[in-house]
Amino acid sequence: TERTLVLIKPDGVARNLTGAILARIEAKGYSLVELKKVDATRELLEQHYEEHVGKPFYEPLVEFMLSGPVVAAIFEGHRVIEGFRSLAGTTDPTTAAPGTIRGDFGRDWGLKVQQNLVHGSDSTESADREIKIWFQG
Ligand code: GTP
Ligand code: MG
Repeated sequence: TERTLVLIKPDGVARNLTGAILARIEAKGYSLVELKKVDATRELLEQHYEEHVGKPFYEPLVEFMLSGPVVAAIFEGHRVIEGFRSLAGTTDPTTAAPGTIRGDFGRDWGLKVQQNLVHGSDSTESADREIKIWFQG
């Protein structure tokens, strides 16, 4: 069955939302396969965010992801990749729909990068690649 990589970003961990976020994913019906708290490194993030290298928000994004621990999880279930992204909501937390993780728990703090609580893989190729980076790196 399909798997996705979920990250609870440093803002989610710092605000003690880890349990609430994991509970929503489980409540939707997806199964937790792996879970760990990680201090990311610049090298790991460069691999994870390779598609964004060179964009204006890349460096602030990496600094943000290095600002505190993240929680990495693998969730499993039929169509979990699109299911989790739907649950997470759109990238900008200010306008993410209420009822989503970003819409309910997030906002714009006026910082250089969108602090939007979670990451989820966007395709089966990304999921395979990202799971290797975070769990078999
Ligand atoms: P992820 O699940 O974290 O990958 O989010 P996403 O797929 O909704 O966004 P994307 O992969 O395009 O960008 C990765 C992260 O960079 C986002 O989650 C934001 O934290 C940040 N980001 C993306 N686009 C912008 C932008 O236009 N401005 C700013 N300030 N930050 C951005
Ligand atoms: Mg993305």
